[in-house]
Amino acid sequence: MTTTITCTPLAATVGAEVRGVDAEQLAHDDTAVAAVLEALDEYGVLVFRDLHLAPENQVAFARRLGDIDHEYGHHPVEGIYRVSLDQAKNTSAAYLKATFEWHMDGCTPLHGEPPQKATILSAVQVAASGGETEFAGTYAAYDALGDDDKERFASLRVVHSLEASQRRVVPDPTPEQLARWRARPTSTHPLVWTHRTGRKSLVVGAHADRVVGMDLDEGRALLGELLDRATEPDRVHRHHWSVGDTVIWDNTGVVHRAAPYEPDSPRELLRTTVFGNEPIR
Ligand code: OGA
Ligand code: MN
Repeated sequence: MTTTITCTPLAATVGAEVRGVDAEQLAHDDTAVAAVLEALDEYGVLVFRDLHLAPENQVAFARRLGDIDHEYGHHPVEGIYRVSLDQAKNTSAAYLKATFEWHMDGCTPLHGEPPQKATILSAVQVAASGGETEFAGTYAAYDALGDDDKERFASLRVVHSLEASQRRVVPDPTPEQLARWRARPTSTHPLVWTHRTGRKSLVVGAHADRVVGMDLDEGRALLGELLDRATEPDRVHRHHWSVGDTVIWDNTGVVHRAAPYEPDSPRELLRTTVFGNEPIR
């Protein structure tokens, strides 16, 4: 049996809405999953409206895409991480404030693991205001550079840190916070990621702290400018959540962020993370 899915592009350079596949197929049907993977490569972000993917099915779907993160996620179903700013629902909620800044997941790993291949989010409850998730393509960001910049950036390396991303949302940390952030090792990645496929993307985000061998301020200005250009409003897809929506993104070619929402908002998204198998190089 073959599954035909329909993809409707959502923004100029990233995102498509997928129709023609249901939750059971994603969890159990190999041909559906193959079609979704192909679409993910092409569009970077896939939106499934009104899918009502049960947590168990979300995990089953994710497992078809690769190995998944089984770390405890403040949720009864293994493989699910509960995204909520409410400390009662997620005791490490404080860290999630940094999702308000543009980022790629997994750029500052604990043990040098490659960044995750894909992330799946499903909406259980939505915010009364704010809380949209925004996406911008980093392949498109590279492709839009002029030839001079492509050449200039080819050999640049960038230090990424948890501290850099946390500082943006907690500018005056306590010594304890700072010590916790600094316990996470920094990671150095090339600015331009040449993927196995030969396609290139920019590795940017709030976690990008400084350019190796460049004056600190000059390097930060460059990283800020590249991120701003990558995320200009006309390059962004903004997902307005409804309960039952699922979104999956190719974390290796996309930056994302949450539009701010209240800490006591009922917003609750369930995340499943598919581990990466390709180092940034
Ligand atoms: C994440 C994330 C964005 C959001 O879970 O990695 O960045 O909108 N979430 O909650
Ligand atoms: Mn994220």
